[in-house]
Amino acid sequence: MTTLIAVGAQWGDEGKGKIVDWLAPKAELVVRFHGGNNAGHTLVVDGEQTVLHVVPAGVLDPKTVNLIGPGVVVDPDILLEELDALTERGVLRDPSRVRVSGRAHVILEWHRSLDKAREELAKGRAIGTTGRGIGPAYEDKVTRRGIRVADLLDPAGLREAIDRLAEQKNFELTEYYKWQPVDVDAIHRRAVEWGRRLEPYVDHTERTLERALRDGRNVLFEGAQGNFLDIDHGTYPYVTSSNCVAGAVCAGAGIGPTRIDRVLGITKAYTTRVGGGPFPTEEKGERGEELRRLGGEFGATTGRPRRCGWLDAVMLREAATVNGYTALAVNKLDVLSELDEVLIATAYTVDGKRTEEFPMTLGEIERAVPIYESHPGWTGDLTGCRRFEDLPQTARDYVDRVQALAGVPVELISVGPGRDETISRTEPFRA
Ligand code: IMP
Repeated sequence: MTTLIAVGAQWGDEGKGKIVDWLAPKAELVVRFHGGNNAGHTLVVDGEQTVLHVVPAGVLDPKTVNLIGPGVVVDPDILLEELDALTERGVLRDPSRVRVSGRAHVILEWHRSLDKAREELAKGRAIGTTGRGIGPAYEDKVTRRGIRVADLLDPAGLREAIDRLAEQKNFELTEYYKWQPVDVDAIHRRAVEWGRRLEPYVDHTERTLERALRDGRNVLFEGAQGNFLDIDHGTYPYVTSSNCVAGAVCAGAGIGPTRIDRVLGITKAYTTRVGGGPFPTEEKGERGEELRRLGGEFGATTGRPRRCGWLDAVMLREAATVNGYTALAVNKLDVLSELDEVLIATAYTVDGKRTEEFPMTLGEIERAVPIYESHPGWTGDLTGCRRFEDLPQTARDYVDRVQALAGVPVELISVGPGRDETISRTEPFRA
């Protein structure tokens, strides 16, 4: 039995979906533990693309059971849409392959409205959220008035909870934000329908997880977003509303820290970010556009163009420390092919002082000027490479340098979007 956490080392969009899909056949259980449908995991299998926002990316492997843990916030419309699509395609034949925690909180229409209303009002200071209601749903959770998936199964109690919340939400929406109120009766009808349809999937997921561990199964925890979008460890306030670091698995899925074996940090071979906030190695001009074009860098959830820049080893070191990575996966190495020169930030200058550590405050991060080292580029199509030795020497040197700078072995390298376009240097689930 091995437990492996796969988490993003940057600002999300590192290609976690592809790596989780690649790892899933080696696992029996795949578990999401935080976030919601702000995530968008793009998987390409036999040329067919699937984008998942809530259902764990392990679902494409027919042998896996996929858990949505208590730490996740669930938009039932999106979840049901994904379940329907997977069922229609014959990927999901048995509801017991997707289990949703009754303790997971539900995203309701007013959460989406509040998310959008706040962003609109914030204008220049907007976070650039995905508008999916994630922050407002987590707010209700921590203020202890949220509605949970299990509540959807109790229509009578649900009416009361919805009425109570709707009064406050509609007051805030109409009086403060001058926004449209939500239709409370329609929400109630919909919520009852969600309960009816989700019932076969609702589960005490901590027990299912515990059983899998007792039976010696391999368990894969699928992170969303990334270290620098973490509510505590990210570039606050330009972050999401959940903990995205490896440690969040324990609370978000319900597993003790003593039972975690391996932590895989996932990074792109360069860096991207969507939404607002500081990004020290961002390339705002032609080079950034070239990276966006080469990498097809448009958001899987919102379609927004991603901001692009060079790999930042200062960030990788910070993420390695906070998450305790045992290995790194470097994605999209193929995208950098044909560039004459590839840069890596090894340190920053902040207010005239050199530092190799990621700064603590937003102001310092905003003022950080990267110190780069230059690497010669490589040529040729890497997508056919399956062994490290197949890569051009300069690409291998680049990966070796990333490993040395991060202080963590690079065990997986992705050279294309397809499941098999992956170089594995060791068995990821080894004990
Ligand atoms: P929220 O999670 O929708 O509240 O958005 C907060 C910030 O996190 C924004 O900058 C989003 O663009 C970013 N974000 C949220 N989810 C993802 C993701 O899956 N990939 C990349 N960025 C994300």
